Amino acid sequence: MHTLTRTIRFSVNPGRGAETGSAPANGFAGIPSMRGLGRYYELHVTCRGEPRSPSGYLLNIKEIDTTVHAGVIPLIAQACRDNPESNPVELLPGIVEEIRRRLGGVFERVRWNLTPYYSLEMTADTSHVLLRQSFDFSAAHRLHVPSLTDEQNRALFGKCNNPSGHGHNYRVEPCVAVRTGAQPAFGLDQLEALVHERIIRPYDHTHLNEDTAEFGGPSGVNPSVENIARVFFERLAEPIRAGSGGSASLRTLTVWETDRTSATFPA
Ligand code: NI
Repeated sequence: MHTLTRTIRFSVNPGRGAETGSAPANGFAGIPSMRGLGRYYELHVTCRGEPRSPSGYLLNIKEIDTTVHAGVIPLIAQACRDNPESNPVELLPGIVEEIRRRLGGVFERVRWNLTPYYSLEMTADTSHVLLRQSFDFSAAHRLHVPSLTDEQNRALFGKCNNPSGHGHNYRVEPCVAVRTGAQPAFGLDQLEALVHERIIRPYDHTHLNEDTAEFGGPSGVNPSVENIARVFFERLAEPIRAGSGGSASLRTLTVWETDRTSATFPA
């Protein structure tokens, strides 16, 4: 089995409805292209199936493009025009229905990036949407295990065992499953408030080993990126459940220590 993912970039421009672009078209930067003070979005459509013979195509990507341009962008453009305060979560079931109507059973999921850092994802099961938003914080840490000797720590962790620690600009991305249609709806504003309270405020501009109980002291764990992802997941999961009245649950949490190293818990 294969999956095929197509990214469609587009702008919703003020006063222009869902126009289909202007020549010369630039699919790389987006069709329609930005005009005036427009909105810029990305849709990632993933299909699942077997490549057909003789084309070798699971699906012709032009069918995905046509589906999005004819069926999905008009829905988003209309909502931007008629009700710019609307919750984008409530648009997703209609978007999925439109894609499935046009592409059929090969459709697997669609991810709508409303910003480079904020996205909503839905599968054919429209009972839930996956909400992701990135955050950042800065902290120092030292990789060190007290039960090992200093020599063993230096051998295991190298420069990361430097006694004074070293710093990272961490990026954190919770992925929250939100039940569609639930009232009150759990959205980005609630997630941002909880992440600020449970993660950013207690850990930003700290030395994790020195300033926090989770990564220092007698019961603290070594602040590896794996342990940070697990500790943060555990700090955030219950407040999201309680704060949403049970309509949202934290699915995973990913922490980037650098742009080349990340850990996700649970996997
Ligand atoms: Ni480090």
